[in-house]
Amino acid sequence: MALAAVPLATSAWGQPADEAVAYRNYVLNCMGCHGASGEGVPGNIPPLRGAIGLFVHSSAGRQFIVRVPGASNSALTDDELAAVTNLMLARFGANQLPADFRPYTGSEVAALRRPAYADVATVRHAVIEELRGRGVPMKFDY
Ligand code: HEC
Repeated sequence: MALAAVPLATSAWGQPADEAVAYRNYVLNCMGCHGASGEGVPGNIPPLRGAIGLFVHSSAGRQFIVRVPGASNSALTDDELAAVTNLMLARFGANQLPADFRPYTGSEVAALRRPAYADVATVRHAVIEELRGRGVPMKFDY
């Protein structure tokens, strides 16, 4: 598995202000459940830190992280959800990204995010098994 060493900070958004907006959107829409550092809540909310960067090693995983209900059904626009997802990847998974990682765009998110999964656990299991089969060291089962 090839991991990128490049920090996302310079590639995922043009301006520092964009990162600040994305962080504010994370705080307002996601942090209440996922925690300030993506740590989650043991037994209830899966950790994003140390996990989210591994999902983007497959196209199914790339879809998974924007189609889970918390992301898919959020009030964020497609552009805003793309920016929040790029922020989470940069802050919680920067050292796990594939070497050819491309930041999400609003149009990609628009194509992927709906409908929200009705059975997240089943989809997640399939996504994780496929990634593991390709040697990506997915960590957290639940
Ligand atoms: C009400 C609590 C809650 C909020 C708010 C929330 N989530 Fe979640 N999130 C969860 C739960 C619970 C899961 C586990 C899957 C499920 O049951 O939906 C999850 C799973 C995820 C996952 C997949 C993690 C994994 O390892 O499977 C991602 C990515 C994610 N959420 C992103 C977001 C984003 C982005 C936002 C804000 C726009 C957000 N979530 C808001 C509760 C929440």
